[in-house]
Amino acid sequence: MQEINHVAVLDFGSQYTQLIVRRVRELGYFAKLYQPENLSEIGKPGAVILSGGPSSTSDPDAPDIDFDLLKSYNVPVLGVCYGMQLLNIKFGGSVKSSKHREYGQAGLFPVTSEGLYSGISSESQVWMSHSDTVDHLADNCKIIAINQHGTPVSLQWNDRFYGIQYHPEVTHSHEGTQILKNFLDTAGELAEFKIEDFKQELIAGIKERCGDKKVVCGVSGGVDSTVLAVLLNEAGVNMQAIYVDQGLMRKNETAEVEANFKRMGVPITVVDASERFLTALAGEGDPEKKRKIIGNMFIDVFWDAVGDAEMLAQGTLYPDVIESASNENSKASTIKTHHNRVPRILEMQKQGKVLEPLAELFKDEVRELGATLGIAQDILNRHPFPGPGLAVRCPGDLTKEKLDIIRDCDAIFIEELKASGWYEKTWQAYAGLIPVKTVGVKGDERSYEFATNLRAVISEDAMTADWVDLPTPLLRKVSNRILNEVDGINRVLYDISSKPPASIEWE
Ligand code: XMP
Repeated sequence: MQEINHVAVLDFGSQYTQLIVRRVRELGYFAKLYQPENLSEIGKPGAVILSGGPSSTSDPDAPDIDFDLLKSYNVPVLGVCYGMQLLNIKFGGSVKSSKHREYGQAGLFPVTSEGLYSGISSESQVWMSHSDTVDHLADNCKIIAINQHGTPVSLQWNDRFYGIQYHPEVTHSHEGTQILKNFLDTAGELAEFKIEDFKQELIAGIKERCGDKKVVCGVSGGVDSTVLAVLLNEAGVNMQAIYVDQGLMRKNETAEVEANFKRMGVPITVVDASERFLTALAGEGDPEKKRKIIGNMFIDVFWDAVGDAEMLAQGTLYPDVIESASNENSKASTIKTHHNRVPRILEMQKQGKVLEPLAELFKDEVRELGATLGIAQDILNRHPFPGPGLAVRCPGDLTKEKLDIIRDCDAIFIEELKASGWYEKTWQAYAGLIPVKTVGVKGDERSYEFATNLRAVISEDAMTADWVDLPTPLLRKVSNRILNEVDGINRVLYDISSKPPASIEWE
């Protein structure tokens, strides 16, 4: 899907590129990501943004841009970090390599109060993450902002080419969104992003790709797969929603999902494969191997359930695509093998058998889409739950005993969060297991049991997250209940780690 006058974001591989797309959409405009080598595919953009990236412009295989083609679009262009360095070279300047990476907060001092810096404070905070810096500037280049050391961090080459060394898309750049808005204001009229239009396009696309083929859609009861199933149902596709109970779901979860689907009128087949999964996982402690076993078996179970399905639909979201970096064209480095990017699915993807209609969307956009599809708010506001389920909340090998302990702890924690109104204020929360036994006293007897870790985070999109400062009385209540009600736990810990460097899950 492509709009006239949309904002084309060229991905040079930065971990933050998708946040640029997101910010532009938040500002109400339609943005789409492209690989720089596919510049000719961007149609009729209204503005172009060149993202940052991990390469140095002096690397022999550094990503490049067809500058003549870029100029021929005749629209405002913003280069961010690597993008700015590349533009500086294209305009005849040079870039200095450095082995030292500047990473973190920096001061921003605009030298103009117009254009990009209209309405921006005379001193502002921005976020930097780069090693190379611009060296010589071309004759026609104006410095429009400097940092606290007087180093140029923002350039303008003519009336429509801009560069910024910092990342305006991250929240640590306090006025970053305004600076992006100022840039977009320099463009003519831009295409608007409207979720209702997007839904109609998605439905048309699904109809076109699926025809009367039989489509298998894995559902977990989470927001993404539920929205996907309802969307496929709405598109009138020959669809079978399959829910696999891999023995890694939370307490009573399977029954609740079944009831929700019935309520929404979407047919669902429940396959109980818990024995099969737990047998395959027995004794396996390596996180990546656990993920692969689960991912592969998930597909096996599907195919066992629906042998003649011609396509697989997945609720993959944009951050999943980027983080797993399995998109061959992506330059972002691999962080984690995601459940929906195991080799077998990649193979199917090559054969054009995988449908991922939500792959351009962020979580909150999926919720918005779900609301336009008439899905109830209690389903849409459910916290995210990972594909590999409780397996990523129980480091090391899994046993039914450990999983049952997690289920009981988690159910108490979530129940108390909901009762106190903190569930809605929290982006994701769970209780996991720390598979280390420690000594305690229960009744008058010595106990030697596991610990549970409570985790509650706020996040915008799972790329970064911060722990939630839950009220002490609430934590005390949860702890008391777990210690009294759950056999096998004698210690409750609260995880106060932000992401990065920690991740939200434990594996
Ligand atoms: P991390 O642990 O990477 O989690 O900070 C970020 C978000 O992604 C979810 N998550 C997964 N979801 N398959 C999924 O479908 C996975 O393998 C997976 N690993 C993590 C996690 O719950 C959080 O919302």
